[in-house]
Order: sequence, then C-alpha cells, then structure tokens
Amino acid sequence: MNAPLANVSVNSLEAHWMPFTANKDFKAEPRLLVKSEGVYAWDHKGGKVIDGSSGLFCVPAGHGRREIADAVHEALLTNDYCSPFGTGQPTSFTLAQMVANITPEPINHVFFVNSGSEAVDTALKIAMAYHRAKGDGQRTRFVSRERAYHGVNIGGVSLSGMVRNRETFSGVMPNVVCMRHTWNPEERFVRGQPESGAELANDLQRFCETYGGSTIAAVFVEPVAGSTGCLVPPKGYLERLREICDEHGILLVFDEVITGFGRIGAPFASHLFGVTPDIMTMAKALTNGAQPMGAVGVKDEIYDTVMEASPQAAIEFFHGYTYSGHPASCAAGVATQQIYIDENLFDRAAEMSEYFLDGIFSLQDLDIVTDIRGIGMMAGVDIAAKGAPGARGGGVQKRLFWNGMHVKFTGDCGIVAPPFVSEKSHIDEMIEKLRMTLEQEQAAS
Ligand SMILES: Cc1ncc(COP(=O)(O)O)c(C=O)c1O
Repeated sequence: MNAPLANVSVNSLEAHWMPFTANKDFKAEPRLLVKSEGVYAWDHKGGKVIDGSSGLFCVPAGHGRREIADAVHEALLTNDYCSPFGTGQPTSFTLAQMVANITPEPINHVFFVNSGSEAVDTALKIAMAYHRAKGDGQRTRFVSRERAYHGVNIGGVSLSGMVRNRETFSGVMPNVVCMRHTWNPEERFVRGQPESGAELANDLQRFCETYGGSTIAAVFVEPVAGSTGCLVPPKGYLERLREICDEHGILLVFDEVITGFGRIGAPFASHLFGVTPDIMTMAKALTNGAQPMGAVGVKDEIYDTVMEASPQAAIEFFHGYTYSGHPASCAAGVATQQIYIDENLFDRAAEMSEYFLDGIFSLQDLDIVTDIRGIGMMAGVDIAAKGAPGARGGGVQKRLFWNGMHVKFTGDCGIVAPPFVSEKSHIDEMIEKLRMTLEQEQAAS
C-alpha cells in the first residue's frame, strides 16, 4: 500500500521501478519533489528542501534556469531531431568547441553521448579503437581501482570497484584489474590532498610487471573518487600514474563526470592537479542537469590516429547513439556553458570553497562523524555504521530530507556538493541542518 500523497496527481507508485532506490521503502514513505528553483526544491507536502548535493552533482548553476529552458524550447521548435549518423546540426559543433575551449590541451575533440555511463563505455571503446588503429590491438586489459564508480553500463560496471554494483553482474567484461583505493583510515579529517599515499600508484607498475605493460590498454580513475565519498588523491599520486602510463604506452583516462565543470575548484581536475589525461569523460554539469548528456574528450593524437586509419569515405569509429548530440541537449549545453562564463561560476565555486569546507569540517566534533574529506565544493562525511552497511546512512538521508535538506548518501557516507550559486547563508543553512540531523541521530541511538 502506498502512503497517501497530498498535492500531487499520482494514484499509484507501483508501475515505476526506481533506480538505485529502496523501492519498497520509498513507496511506503514517498519523498517526491514537485518544484525547484535556485538552491531549493519543494516536496509534495509543501516542505522546502535545500539542495545539498546539487541534485546528483549536476546542477551547479541552480534549478530552474530560464536561459536553459528557453534554449531547449527554441531548439525543439526549430529543429527537434536529426539523425546524428551521417547528418549533423549546428549546435553540436558549437557545444563541442565550447567544451574543447575549457578542456586541457591537447584534449580538443569531443564525442557526445547521453550520460556518464555511456561516456565511460565510449571511452573504453575509443581506447580499444585507438590501440587497434596503431597496430597495438593486443592491448585488451584495463586497470581500474577499488571504490571506483564508473556508471552502470557493462563496461563501467566491469571497471567498478564497488562490490554491490558488480557482484550480480560480474564476469561480463574480463581483463579488468583494480588498484587499491587511496583512502587511508590512519589519516582522517584531511582537507584537500593527503600528504601520504602516492606510492599506491605503484600498483599500476606491479600490474605492468605481472601482465606486461604492453597488454594494458588504459587506466581509468576518477581524479577525486566522488560516489564513494570524495576520496581526494594523495599528493603525487596522479603524477605517478601519468609517469607509469607514459613509460608503458598506456592511456590514462580521467572520469570527470563529477569533478568536471568547476566542482573541485578548477574547470577540471586535470587543471587543479596539473596532470593531463589522454581521455576524459564528462556528463552531469555539462547541461546543468537540464537534459541528459555526456561527453568524451580525447587528445589530438587519439582522434588523428583513428581518423587516419580509415580511407576518406569510410566510417572511422563504429559507435554512436541515436541521441548523440541531440539538439535539445546541445542547446541546454550551450546555454549552460554560457552561464558558467557569464557568471564566472567556476571561480565563484573556488572562492566559496574555503567557507564551505570550514562549515563541513566544523562537524568533526560530533561523535557520529568518523571522517570528513573535502576539496572545492565537494565533501564526504562518513558516519559510524550501525547494523548493515548503509542502513544508518539511508536513515540519516531520510531524516535529513524531512529536516529540509537533500544529500546524496552512498552507504554510510553523505556527499555534500552545493550549487555554485549558493550564498554563504545557504551554506550556513546546510551546515545547521546537517548538524541538527546528525545530533538527532546520535541522540536516538
Ligand atoms: C565518476 C562517474 N562516472 C560515471 C557516472 C555515471 O553517470 P550516469 O549516472 O550519468 O550514467 C557517475 C555518476 O555518478 C560518476 O560519478
């Protein structure tokens, strides 16, 4: 039986099988959001909810941006769809150029997809296509990392370092090995990059020695692991990965689906850490969450190698989606990128970071908080587990929601990532609501 819903015309919640949701639990006590504007949303009972995770890290410019809505509306009335295979439409080229303008050199070519998961699977295929075009087709092995999240498609799940995401589906894509994750329980409450742990990158060197570096196609890492709780790379770690990749001809792929577009205090993580990958995946904030869209950026040499391997009239890369570069998504993307430029939002995020992190790290006096990590406008707050892993986190997430704040939880970690348009007063409100909720949880146990 569903709980009754006020103010919404929903008679049954049963037909919709919800993603990454405890369906039975949700349907017994629904939490529907029916309106959103700026940094707030409103639930179906009329409660005001501050958005502490920018939705799912995808709405840095705030909800309900008219510029984006108008651009999508206009696109749908002017040129709603055209086949992206063999024909094109202008805004995909405009958006690709806008993205290439902010990705690090020499990442100058952009392939459009519809989500972060598709971006990851596309990046896997680009890596394979590139090595094959170079006559290096024996490189069939991929390296990922424990606690990695690379989306839910088969390639991304195979790269996953999160057991619950892969145990049911394992074995589909063989030849993936995981390096150790970089979280160090001995070094807690670290703001920014931990001092120690760079040597964990040598796991890659060991794989090269065990399997042969020339059999490895690519290494996938989130520069800051997002979904598993904001694991910031130790100083020197990404640099060491880059070094080993260069030594063995392995492609380095940064999955910037969360970190991209200003989240950690620079346009991309590669700018912040001074390490340039060969391929980068993007999604989420590309369109401010207003349309589904992802992208893969590749360096010139990869694009040129794949292009040059085929004759003039031949398709060079046998991959693409019906909705690759959809006009409505591209229009949303162009309008979003323009907002980032006009409102200088990446700089604003970098400037607000100190204030945000001060607030978040002030929670460390609570007994229930076992670790906090943070960088830019993102932080992971671990709470002491109670019962099955994630049970307490799920409970705190609900309690927080009814206290008027949305935060994405993974297991027992809340990942806080405010919109970049947040004022200091919004950050204060988030910290107050987090503190109140965590205190209530502490008192209840
Ligand atoms: C690093 C990373 N890669 C890939 C994905 C998958 O993106 P999507 O949910 O858009 O498929 C996510 C989603 O959170 C992510 O954080």
